[in-house]
Amino acid sequence: MKIGFGSDHAAIDLKNCLLEHMKERGFECVDFGAYSPTEKVDYPIPGRAVAEAIRRGEIDRGVLVCGTGVGISLAANKVPGIRAGVCSEPYTAKMIAEHNNCQIVAMGARVVGEELGKMICDTFFDSEFQGGRHARRVGLIGQVEKDYGYADAEIK
Ligand code: RB5
Repeated sequence: MKIGFGSDHAAIDLKNCLLEHMKERGFECVDFGAYSPTEKVDYPIPGRAVAEAIRRGEIDRGVLVCGTGVGISLAANKVPGIRAGVCSEPYTAKMIAEHNNCQIVAMGARVVGEELGKMICDTFFDSEFQGGRHARRVGLIGQVEKDYGYADAEIK
């Protein structure tokens, strides 16, 4: 599994910490920036970059971090077929994988600390989509995109 990591300038330390943690766990990790704490990076840029890389099949999953996790997840969720969920505890991280089939876990660096962030990451990547009734519901999310003109919204 190949994981893409992205953050704005506010969340660079947590992004780097989570990337190192997942690398130590044996995952292939790709850094989409931000790279320098002194350079401002607006959160829609890395949010979109990670989401589009998933859509193109270059990476399998993503971890996105900004101040709250909200802005960067909103940008990622605009890419057709992408589902990004914001988590501030492990229960939600399990549910966004098992029920919502999210490809991206998002967090707020001003909300969670490093140890909680690692726990959220571990829970997300150790959980699997359960399908069944959840597949129908996730399909209905995709239907919204189709109804608004994204005929190819679904990611195969
Ligand atoms: C940057 O100050 C902040 O707005 C951003 O990191 C994020 O929290 C937005 O959702």
